[in-house]
Amino acid sequence: MTELGAVAWPPAPIRTERLVLREPEARDRAVFIELLASAEVHTHLGGPRQRDGLERELPRVPERWPGSFVVELDGTMIGQILLRRAAERHRPAAVGKADLGYLFLPRAWGHGYAAEACAAALDWFDGALPGEPVVLATRTANVGSMRLAAKLGFTEVERFRAWGAEQWLGLRSPAAASG
Ligand SMILES: CC(C)(COP(=O)(O)OP(=O)(O)OC[C@H]1O[C@@H](n2cnc3c(N)ncnc32)[C@H](O)[C@@H]1OP(=O)(O)O)[C@@H](O)C(=O)NCCC(=O)NCCS
Repeated sequence: MTELGAVAWPPAPIRTERLVLREPEARDRAVFIELLASAEVHTHLGGPRQRDGLERELPRVPERWPGSFVVELDGTMIGQILLRRAAERHRPAAVGKADLGYLFLPRAWGHGYAAEACAAALDWFDGALPGEPVVLATRTANVGSMRLAAKLGFTEVERFRAWGAEQWLGLRSPAAASG
């Protein structure tokens, strides 16, 4: 993945009904470690990273790049949304397009927070890069992620086999975004 490109970053914090989306800060580091070391979060993502390695290697302010949003509930990080550009090694239909990813702490699942936050991030994206489509890749076995993709308006481009599992590539076209 590469960075999004010419966007004004960071935006002012984005407020939704229950959440705030903002750029990462130093106070988020412990939650980033929890998120990246969680086996449950990485069930469908190729496995977690080692906690001690993360403690050593993660910068003071982790994941600080254009398109990386911390999602905050009541003043504490509960997840991350990632908007990046799919690189050459991705599926031909995805290469060069913006790609949406999301990681939330298990204790924040089942409340609609991911849907609320992703919708706000996509609204920001539509304003920052008008008319651009967004792709999303997930394992078909990742039921929560598949449901979220559908809720956000992504429709299937293709299913393919990679990394030992069936994968789903979805597309949110600009027309679907404005409708
Ligand atoms: C994928 C992931 C973000 C989904 O999280 P989630 O909490 O299940 O997603 P949502 O925000 O859509 O919320 C889901 C449920 O909250 C419920 N909910 C409870 N209160 C709600 C409210 N006030 N508003 C909306 N929904 C609410 C909904 O019923 C919904 O369930 P449904 O989809 O069966 O209808 C989460 O499982 C995760 O972080 N997984 C690990 C990382 C991962 O696999 N990422 C994919 C990378 S591509």
